[in-house]
Amino acid sequence: MSLQENRVSARFITVEGGEGVGKTTNMGLIQSILESRGLEVCITREPGGTALGEMLRTSLLNPELEPPVAMAELLMIFAARAQHISTVIEPALAAGQWVLCDRFTDATYAYQGFGRGIDLPAIATLEQLVQGKRRPDVTVLLDLDPLVGLERAQKRAELDRFELEEAAFFNRVREGYLSRAKAEPARWIVVDAAKSLEEVSSTLNAQLTRWLDHG
Ligand code: TMP
Repeated sequence: MSLQENRVSARFITVEGGEGVGKTTNMGLIQSILESRGLEVCITREPGGTALGEMLRTSLLNPELEPPVAMAELLMIFAARAQHISTVIEPALAAGQWVLCDRFTDATYAYQGFGRGIDLPAIATLEQLVQGKRRPDVTVLLDLDPLVGLERAQKRAELDRFELEEAAFFNRVREGYLSRAKAEPARWIVVDAAKSLEEVSSTLNAQLTRWLDHG
């Protein structure tokens, strides 16, 4: 895709991975790659990105609040997403801004589907209902052994309600992400997040640049 085409057609980029994989650092890298091309970037996250979404995020993540049952968790995530899409993502794309989102519906398949065991077709039904045709144009998966990621996350801050799950949950989440990436390889950039920060950055830079230049 030429630079000129980039300007007229804003894209939706998502970043995914388990806990402690380095999403924040790599979101910053992606932002700077896009901005260096003169693109306007809207940075956002899920669950969250709106006042309502951030309220739901607190209820979802705070381990001291009443834990939602799996179906309530799923619906809260899609409620936050509906608000986020209507009031942030679609308006930004319509205004020509590229949207860079820390997690999106692939996280729902990985965590609520593979992790919690909710039927994947039920998630697909909600995805269709809430998103219509909207899907990420490209998704970066930072792939890492969950044991390594959790150790990093533990050093960083107090653990949230998801981070308190057992190892088997995170192994299923990882398997979920990898199986989605395998099923739709054209949309995914999979990066081995066990490598050094420099190696991860240079691989991500090369792959994202290739996608930006050639689609
Ligand atoms: P994080 O954005 O700080 O990584 O934390 C968000 C947590 O929410 C993370 O543990 C994954 C979880 N999550 C889901 O379970 N399903 C989802 O659809 C999304 C977007 C996040």
